[in-house]
Amino acid sequence: MSRRLARVRPKPPVAVFAANSTATSLYVHVPFCVVKCGYCDFTSYVVEDTSVHDMFLRALDAELSSTTLPESPTTIFIGGGTPSHLAPHRLEELLKILGRHVDVSGCVEVSMEANPESIDEEKAAIAMRYGVSRFSMGVQSFDPSRLHFLDRAHTGQRAREAFLELRRAGAANASIDLIFGLPGQTVAQWEGDLEIALEMQPDHLSCYSLTYEPGTRLHRDLRLGRVVPVEEEADRAMFLRTRELLAGAGYHAYEISNFAGRGGPCRHNDHYWLQGDYVGVGPGASGHRNGVRHTNLKPIDAWGRAALDGLPPVATAETLTPKQRVGEALWLGIRRRDGVDVAAIERRVGCPVESLLGKVFAAHVANGWIERDGTWLRLTSAGLLVADVVGSDYLLPADIAS
Ligand SMILES: C[S@@+](CC[C@H](N)C(=O)[O-])C[C@H]1O[C@@H](n2cnc3c(N)ncnc32)[C@H](O)[C@@H]1O
Ligand code: SF4
Repeated sequence: MSRRLARVRPKPPVAVFAANSTATSLYVHVPFCVVKCGYCDFTSYVVEDTSVHDMFLRALDAELSSTTLPESPTTIFIGGGTPSHLAPHRLEELLKILGRHVDVSGCVEVSMEANPESIDEEKAAIAMRYGVSRFSMGVQSFDPSRLHFLDRAHTGQRAREAFLELRRAGAANASIDLIFGLPGQTVAQWEGDLEIALEMQPDHLSCYSLTYEPGTRLHRDLRLGRVVPVEEEADRAMFLRTRELLAGAGYHAYEISNFAGRGGPCRHNDHYWLQGDYVGVGPGASGHRNGVRHTNLKPIDAWGRAALDGLPPVATAETLTPKQRVGEALWLGIRRRDGVDVAAIERRVGCPVESLLGKVFAAHVANGWIERDGTWLRLTSAGLLVADVVGSDYLLPADIAS
């Protein structure tokens, strides 16, 4: 069928709800980058004036002060943007601020995103001193022309060196992000990237198929016919080859785009996919607690002014209906290798899932896309290839989502 492969990136998902009401995670958004990559729609700014970084830290402190936080979040994810872009003393300050507001040592995992052009042994050591236990390095590719196409600010060689610097600093859990399905890319080229990544022995890998996000330069180029997306068959072949190669190397595909090695799954993202609550701080960050979803102001000035004035720097807040919560729980959960437990969703939301979506489940079973095991739904091998279609079929239309 004419649909591209499923791909969800690890930005905080639109809505989740508590599997266990006491378990809440914390997402901290650091919105600065060296360059704005043409494919990226995450909130990020290239600013020359580093006083903006200082304002960000003061505003973050203020936002955390006025936010009801879990004393000890289950997990913390410091993402971006590029947290490693902060100068060493600012990175230290960021982590000190966090430590003043929550018990970092009680978290099961504290992840930080790091880019090859800005992470080094010193910053990694600072991060670990303040409790960071896992690094996620955005590499995307090792090939000069693909790095150029993606506007990356580093070379493949620098990515390898930076990963070694993480190791030298003592990082025992380090992941690598890669992107496949670039225009004109062949399966053999993609295998080349995967093989280099495997030589680096990461503890986890995330492999995403390139998406054309509205509002990005890449999306505009697509509309103007300046880029031609890779053939669907090639994209699919790369997706399948990824699973084959990484399984052979001992990585477990616990989610469509995520592969756990020695470091196990990313506990923070798994918390999202398992519908745990989370608080999001920083410009553009979103959070969800007890059925209410909020999204922060994106512009750094507006976000910072509100936070420093002691106001919630929130752009939108929305109370989700039970049907929306059901749809989103299924949409997220179906992406996990273990699948999603319909009975658990019914218990949490108090909504009869079968009577809402039983016919959709039956059609998916008939198509061979999902299998049912008691109250669990799981994607089949055929379903993996159309996971976006399967998941979006569970998102109940707004007119009945009440
Ligand atoms: C928002 S980035 C932040 C991490 C870091 N700043 C970086 O540059 O990698 C998180 C990850 O999302 C993935 N990503 C972002 N935009 C994407 C897109 N349009 N298509 C596929 N993957 C994307 C990349 O793999 C990236 O590593
Ligand atoms: S991909 Fe990473 S470095 Fe590039 S703009 Fe997005 S957040 Fe910044």
